[in-house]
Amino acid sequence: MIIETKTEHLVDHIDFAKYQTRVNEINDMIVNKTGLGNDFLGWLDWPINYDKEELARIKKAGQYIRDNYDILVVCGIGGSYLGARAAIEALRGTFRSNKPEIIYLGQSLDPTYIQENMEYLQDKKFAINVISKSGTTTETSVSFRLLRNLLEKRDGVEAARKAIFATTDKARGALYTLSVQEGYERFVIPDDIGGRYSVLTAVGLLPIAAAGIDVDEMLAGAAEARLDTMNPDLNVNEAYKYAVIRHALWSEYQKQVEFFITYVPSFVQLGEWWKQLFGESEGKEGKGLLPDSATFTTDLHSLGQFIQQGSHCFFETTLHLTHHRHWIKVPTDEQDLDHLNFLAGMGLGSIQDKAYEGTIEAHTKVGKNNNVVLELERMSAHNLGYLFYWFEKSCAMSAYLNGVNPFDQPGVEVYKRNMFHLLGKPGY
Ligand code: PA5
Repeated sequence: MIIETKTEHLVDHIDFAKYQTRVNEINDMIVNKTGLGNDFLGWLDWPINYDKEELARIKKAGQYIRDNYDILVVCGIGGSYLGARAAIEALRGTFRSNKPEIIYLGQSLDPTYIQENMEYLQDKKFAINVISKSGTTTETSVSFRLLRNLLEKRDGVEAARKAIFATTDKARGALYTLSVQEGYERFVIPDDIGGRYSVLTAVGLLPIAAAGIDVDEMLAGAAEARLDTMNPDLNVNEAYKYAVIRHALWSEYQKQVEFFITYVPSFVQLGEWWKQLFGESEGKEGKGLLPDSATFTTDLHSLGQFIQQGSHCFFETTLHLTHHRHWIKVPTDEQDLDHLNFLAGMGLGSIQDKAYEGTIEAHTKVGKNNNVVLELERMSAHNLGYLFYWFEKSCAMSAYLNGVNPFDQPGVEVYKRNMFHLLGKPGY
């Protein structure tokens, strides 16, 4: 069991036994593909069913990008980029000097952000991984036009073709058609896997491989999570236990918000991925927890006040790592003006551990807010693959417990229709 769902910091009582029958029924529904959205359960067996030939091409293309380019621009939005970014930043950190540098475009329409990035890329050797199922998503398509123009004008059409990798539908759509016409190397977004469940397909794995991360290990981790989450018994299925806690806190105790807490700044994008997964899966029909995220101890100096003494509309879910990758010692200072010499020689990991313990106690014992602790020994490619799959499985259970389809996102279309109407798109 790589992730343990710890319940000792819950303030409210959860009667797990009460939910077991419903959990068993939903698990049957997931496994037998009989529930709402059952066309989108391809992720369930993906860790063992993935296309082996494609994975070999992903690794080859990833190595080619590493060998030949200084930068990879990942051009996608939502489910077509968040998982890759979460993995790359969680495992590699956020420094630009890591080669190849990874830049993200196609997830914004902000002219300043796009202009700054285009200027930065002007004289750099870069490849593009454009990721879009439809090939018509405005944010992604506009940025891809700009990037492609820059490459074609600067390096010529042939060089641009070699530098562009397209991840899209296997047989149709605007990006598929363009890729076939131009001869871009193509990777597939499977029909039965929605964007927010796609990180372990080519959508996530190509950029992740290009970043030098071991994608075999990620899939092996996911395969382990698949096995560990097969038995629906709430005494052994940690992912379903987490789903039941979320559902009970929402439905029995009227919690409206869940904060996903980590103590690691390079996990901010993991929080973004998690927010899309749970937000898009559950936020419909007037139901669902609002997923939010925070990084401690940073945000203890901003949100900390509200969490400690504000309204009790929320609970916290803390991803707690029990092992630190680095061990920096606090230096002695002769003057000791900040009165911190009592910490001299101590590792920052130990200090952070105490911050974690003190915070949990403050928020639960004094603040009377629930804290679910998801304990993980360390972050690694294997464990992150495990964690992605584990959250996906948990999310499917949790959304079905709420009685909604975990795999659609009809609400996302409303802003697009308005925007297209205002922009004068034909048919809108
Ligand atoms: O999860 C989803 O389905 C969305 O976030 C999509 O991935 C996102 O809107 C991008 O769509 P597309 O891949 O068609 O460009």
